[in-house]
Amino acid sequence: MARRTKIYEGKAKILYEGPEPGTLVQYFKDDATAFNALKKDVIDGKGVLNNRLSEFFMTGLNNIGIPTHFIRRLNMREQLVRACEIIPLEIIVRNYAAGSLSKRLGIEEGTPLPRPIVEYCYKDDALGDPLVTEEHIAAFGWASQQDMDDIVSLALRVNDFMSGVMMAVGIRLVDFKIEIGRVYEGDFQRLVVADEISPDSCRLWDLKTGQKLDKDVFRRDLGSLTDAYAEVARRLGIMPEQAGNGTGPTPIN
Ligand code: TMP
Ligand code: ASP
Repeated sequence: MARRTKIYEGKAKILYEGPEPGTLVQYFKDDATAFNALKKDVIDGKGVLNNRLSEFFMTGLNNIGIPTHFIRRLNMREQLVRACEIIPLEIIVRNYAAGSLSKRLGIEEGTPLPRPIVEYCYKDDALGDPLVTEEHIAAFGWASQQDMDDIVSLALRVNDFMSGVMMAVGIRLVDFKIEIGRVYEGDFQRLVVADEISPDSCRLWDLKTGQKLDKDVFRRDLGSLTDAYAEVARRLGIMPEQAGNGTGPTPIN
């Protein structure tokens, strides 16, 4: 059998050529990085959990008419996605102050924001994904004004959906990051939510205790990352009740 073609390898995922034109296989690695890869580790089972969680969120978005690149999960670590041209921006939506916003503006973590705030970072590892404004995006042609209107609308719809889903299982969606891709259909382009949505790219706090159930557990050395992600999966009903308590292997179908 021929070896499949690797299209791109990032910090947490690999993209391979897909089985049909216009598709890719997205493989979730166990690698965890933070602070632009200054901190690195391999965390057994993280890729499996993120593959499953991202499938759950992307399917939910598809079902309510928010287009995503997700087609279907193939196995424990891989999903079939539509090939798209990634807009070189990280779109961040924040509901509560945390992380870099708290640092930049001196607002205590956990402070509710007056309304969801959308921020953009330019995707460039060498530069550490710097924060940019719509002025930079327009001037450098990374996205058109129409794209930006669509991106904000998509980001806020994703926020509504994700906030509701998490709230229902006792989790606060503090903030998250998405990436947007262009898919071409004949002469038209459509924007879709791409990459992944997982606890790697969200801040998720237990509503009652404030316990962190996201990648801050790794960034800040707060305990077992897979236990935190498995707890999110368990609450969402995508993992058996007993799994993820750190007492044994994590069964996931
Ligand atoms: P920040 O507070 O560090 O700017 O992060 C905001 C949100 O974006 C948080 O949910 C984590 C997510 N994020 C990523 O997904 N990738 C990144 O490289 C960074 C810096 C943040
Ligand atoms: N994803 C970034 C990194 O790999 C930063 C982060 O998530 O904290 O380093």
